[in-house]
Amino acid sequence: MSIDDILLFDETIFKNIESFNPDYVPENYLHRESQMEALAICLRPAIRGGRPINTVILGSPATGKTTAINKIFNIVERTSDRVVCVYVNCQLHTTRFNIFSQIYNKIFRHMPPETGVPFSRIYGNIMKYLQTENKSMVVALDDVSYLFHSKNANKIFYDILRAHEEFKGVRTGIFAILSDIEFRYMLDKNVTSVFIPQEIVFEPYTTNEMFDILKDRIKAGFYPDVISEDILQQISEYASSARDLRMGIDLLRTSGNFAEADASKTIEKSTCLKLLKIQDQQTLKVPLKPFLIMKRFF
Ligand SMILES: Nc1ncnc2c1ncn2[C@@H]1O[C@H](COP(=O)(O)OP(=O)(O)OP(=O)(O)O)[C@@H](O)[C@H]1O
Ligand SMILES: [Mg+2]
Repeated sequence: MSIDDILLFDETIFKNIESFNPDYVPENYLHRESQMEALAICLRPAIRGGRPINTVILGSPATGKTTAINKIFNIVERTSDRVVCVYVNCQLHTTRFNIFSQIYNKIFRHMPPETGVPFSRIYGNIMKYLQTENKSMVVALDDVSYLFHSKNANKIFYDILRAHEEFKGVRTGIFAILSDIEFRYMLDKNVTSVFIPQEIVFEPYTTNEMFDILKDRIKAGFYPDVISEDILQQISEYASSARDLRMGIDLLRTSGNFAEADASKTIEKSTCLKLLKIQDQQTLKVPLKPFLIMKRFF
């Protein structure tokens, strides 16, 4: 096959290759019913005109935390116009200005100018909007540990949670999402007195749970009968031993690509085993962190 043929070859075993992308939001969100219920309980007061309950969402990588926030925010926005739900990726946005620009963008559907506008005006516009529209706001700070590393956490928590002192009637809350379960955070006293969070824990998936999730992803991403249950079982066991569902999803995608490169209509066990071996060597270089429960120091 020429390079052109490889690139443009249009026979495929993928029904929807996007369903293996890292930002894909699965239609079925399996085995997280109790966490979704807990999140709904924390948001319910906001829908009824109160304040959302502050929450820490805790779990090791790929346990579905970001997906859960995405799903619950979509549901809230579909059912109520009384709550502004803002998602912020704190790996990308670590400064006070950046984070409030994200909030501003969510509310006004455009970013504030990067220069010439003082922070207080952006902050004031956000809070006045919530006040006059009588809406509550919940801000999900994903990978919040980055705010502690950059030493901006106290100010940002303070600005969000104590807004009602300057802007009467404003109701705000924080969902703080932590993947680094060994991380210990410390907040100033003036913040801890308003941030006494509920904890929602996302336990690692069992092998059977991973099997169900990966099976569902196969249904969304591949044409029927591309991969056998036997191979799926092997991938589930591998992902489970690595405690990383993402590895399982990625293995499905890579196995699919390799099968296509061999012009095969199915994923063969030998291809999959080869990939598992490569992954294994890479995993050995990065030792897994033990699952520890985070402690809080105030
Ligand atoms: N219960 C589930 N059902 C279907 N897919 C899931 C489920 N949980 C996680 N996933 C999938 O696993 C991948 C990782 O999920 P997600 O990004 O939500 O994890 P996370 O806990 O936020 O990880 P990290 O801590 O690394 O940010 C995504 O592709 C997501 O679609
Ligand atoms: Mg995440």
